[in-house]
Amino acid sequence: MSSKNHPSDLTPSQIADLQQQASAIAHNAYAPYSNFRVGAAILLNNGAVVTGCNIENASYRLTTCAEQAAIAAAVSQYGPHIRIRAIAVANLNNTASQPCGACRQTIHEFSTPDTVIFFPAENGTTAQATMPDLLPAAFLLSK
Ligand code: THU
Repeated sequence: MSSKNHPSDLTPSQIADLQQQASAIAHNAYAPYSNFRVGAAILLNNGAVVTGCNIENASYRLTTCAEQAAIAAAVSQYGPHIRIRAIAVANLNNTASQPCGACRQTIHEFSTPDTVIFFPAENGTTAQATMPDLLPAAFLLSK
């Protein structure tokens, strides 16, 4: 997952803006069980940015991750043909955190091979990876 192999064509200020929006929406997280507050900001191919935060549940497995909340909002607002150009994930816990496996499959559904994911890495740095980096063998349903 190196930025060298897959440089994003986003400018540094576009990336910073996406990360800022992810951090901002993380303040809305409903995370009373883990206290791990996460935000995601999606830049769509149509130029719009849509955000989401994690929403936990007393029945733990019903939790919605921030990435999934953002994607649900994006489809709800812009319809079924959205494509994700980039997605930034942030947390308010100052720790490294990669998208979970379920989120990778969910992001894949609306991605292209160029979709870039930015997420918190060690010591406050940001890692970036393309969708095929994160999920090289996504499940596909043959029609
Ligand atoms: N979580 C996310 O929302 N996104 C991630 O990328 C990692 C995990 C949430 C799920 C749960 O509410 C909390 O973080 C702890 O796992």
